[in-house]
Amino acid sequence: MKINTAEFVVSNSDASLCPKELLPEYAFIGRSNVGKSSLINMLTNRNSLAKTSGRPGKTQLINHFKINANWFLVDLPGYGYARVSKSTKEVFQKFITDYFERREQLVCAFVLIDIRHEAQKIDLEFMAYLGEAQVPFCIIFTKADKISRGKIDAHVNAYRKKMTEGDWEEMPQYFVTSSTEATGRDAVLGYIETLNQG
Ligand code: GTP
Ligand code: MG
Repeated sequence: MKINTAEFVVSNSDASLCPKELLPEYAFIGRSNVGKSSLINMLTNRNSLAKTSGRPGKTQLINHFKINANWFLVDLPGYGYARVSKSTKEVFQKFITDYFERREQLVCAFVLIDIRHEAQKIDLEFMAYLGEAQVPFCIIFTKADKISRGKIDAHVNAYRKKMTEGDWEEMPQYFVTSSTEATGRDAVLGYIETLNQG
């Protein structure tokens, strides 16, 4: 899919204040620093549409970006960032869960997982939550440039094993990406295009 336009629309901390238009949208969620905002920039081919940082906790709001004037990408705050206070964490949690539970325009969530790491409890718990809330989701393994190409399948298979030993019969649809190398761009955009048409 060709990205002709990508524009920031609104940031907020209240799911009920998100854009009212009934356009399909796709949200990026995952641990702080996993590369959600970088992936939005990579997919849209814009350097700094979404703000990124080497320090976790950069994205703090629900950010809507309108793509080709007819669908949205949504950047969300990360979870699992130890240095925010407990009360901040609870506020985050509340508006993020409100978003997932109430946002009718949400077609699919993309749960980002750093491909370097073993399966983490917090991600498995978050996916279990999405399952219970009946939110369709895919997995995006990020930062694939940080491991050698030959190790990618082994990391993905280890993750699959962990999921299927736990709550899941199979691993959901997944993608392997690198925002620095634009790996996986066509696959993710192609998948979104298919869903947009469905
Ligand atoms: P929060 O907003 O804090 O939740 O983080 P985020 O998930 O949006 O992460 P962000 O996109 O800000 O990226 C965090 C750091 O990882 C930055 O230093 C990025 O440059 C780096 N990064 C993101 N994606 C990649 C990638 O694919 N490869 C490499 N090498 N670095 C990446
Ligand atoms: Mg971010």
